[in-house]
Amino acid sequence: MPALVLLGAQWGDEGKGKATDLLGGSVDYVVRYQGGNNAGHTVVVGDQKYALHLLPSGILSPGCVPVIGNGVVVDPAVLLSELSGLEERGVDTSKLLISGNAHLITPYHTTMDKVTERFLGKRKIGTTGRGIGPTYADKINRVGIRVQDLFDESILTQKVEAALDQKNQVLAKLYNRRAIAVDQVVEELLGYADALRGYVCDTTLLLNDALDQDKVVLFEGGQGTLLDVDHGTYPFVTSSNPTAGGACTGAGVGPTRIDRVIGILKAYTTRVGAGPFPTELFDEDGEKLRTIGGERGVTTGRDRRCGWFDAVIARYATRVNGLTDFFLTKLDVLTGWESIPVCVAYGIDGRRVDELPYNQTDFHHAEPVYEMLPGWSEDISGAKEFSDLPKNAQAYVKALEEMSGAPISAIGVGPGRDETIQINSFL
Ligand code: IMP
Repeated sequence: MPALVLLGAQWGDEGKGKATDLLGGSVDYVVRYQGGNNAGHTVVVGDQKYALHLLPSGILSPGCVPVIGNGVVVDPAVLLSELSGLEERGVDTSKLLISGNAHLITPYHTTMDKVTERFLGKRKIGTTGRGIGPTYADKINRVGIRVQDLFDESILTQKVEAALDQKNQVLAKLYNRRAIAVDQVVEELLGYADALRGYVCDTTLLLNDALDQDKVVLFEGGQGTLLDVDHGTYPFVTSSNPTAGGACTGAGVGPTRIDRVIGILKAYTTRVGAGPFPTELFDEDGEKLRTIGGERGVTTGRDRRCGWFDAVIARYATRVNGLTDFFLTKLDVLTGWESIPVCVAYGIDGRRVDELPYNQTDFHHAEPVYEMLPGWSEDISGAKEFSDLPKNAQAYVKALEEMSGAPISAIGVGPGRDETIQINSFL
């Protein structure tokens, strides 16, 4: 079972870091295939808590090679500071490999992200402000800067010139901002070259060779299914493909090589930024989920919007990703509710709808149809086996599994690496 994709089944922040890290001990390579430092993984190892934004969580597992694939956008300043932060805490980062084809987030991308959001006003996306969208836009417009460009000053200068040519017009004439000097950007980027050179390689060749040799490769998605630029709640999405197909394009492996696709699914739902969210709660239950679940963004520090579990979304995630398994996280957060509402379908203009509406207006009008499941009050954080869970917690998990369309193979009952019930092995 050598190639697994692990991705968010909802709007991100499902607890992927814990799941990847848990598997990291048994896999040879952990690969990020899209997104950038808009992601935020919290990994708890023993009494140590690590917040990772750009680096694959496998960096915390000795013996595992962390890889940043071609589909990722890399802010070199953030990358180097994340690396030195880990090194200071005694983590060995020397095995990291970075695709020479990954695109670079430069200071002008971050500037464009912020001014564009300001310009959009109340129609803003609520981006993380990390330059993600503008960097992917340049990639698609064929004026992006790639990691390999850092090692050729003449090419780098030409490319920065080409990229800034139009942008400076837009910045000055539309946004009333000062133009950005080419030399300054080139100098800053060249300053990262030596520190990064040793990490850069042809990761596509490396990963395909690894798969040929039956090594275990884990592809780790950032964000989540509903934030996918093609399959998410467009335009309230990120600018890449967190869905399973993104692992192929973002790492350079063919779809026939993927054996298993694991969706990380929170036992309730959260979302950061703007956009539709049918089960969102604006009452004390929402506040309680936020407080108990620690639902505050790792990257931006923003409070997450919270709501009940939405089975329509889970079914959709199964469909568009071809999920083989779910990893249900944060079940412990639901301890203490007498009964727990679960959204099983939507009501849209008087009709019952069981599948995610493809029409955006319908989705914006979707009202959750709830089924009430009985809650539990026992502390479940020490549960090691499924049978250790209180009967109502077992029934909650079984009901979610039935509604969501794929087996729940692991359950998170606390933030620690050990606080997991493994039902089916992932490998
Ligand atoms: P961007 O990815 O910074 O362009 O932001 C686009 C949307 O994706 C915004 O709603 C962000 O809040 C959301 N987003 C980006 N990264 C994450 C993440 O890791 N978790 C949850 N939401 C995210």
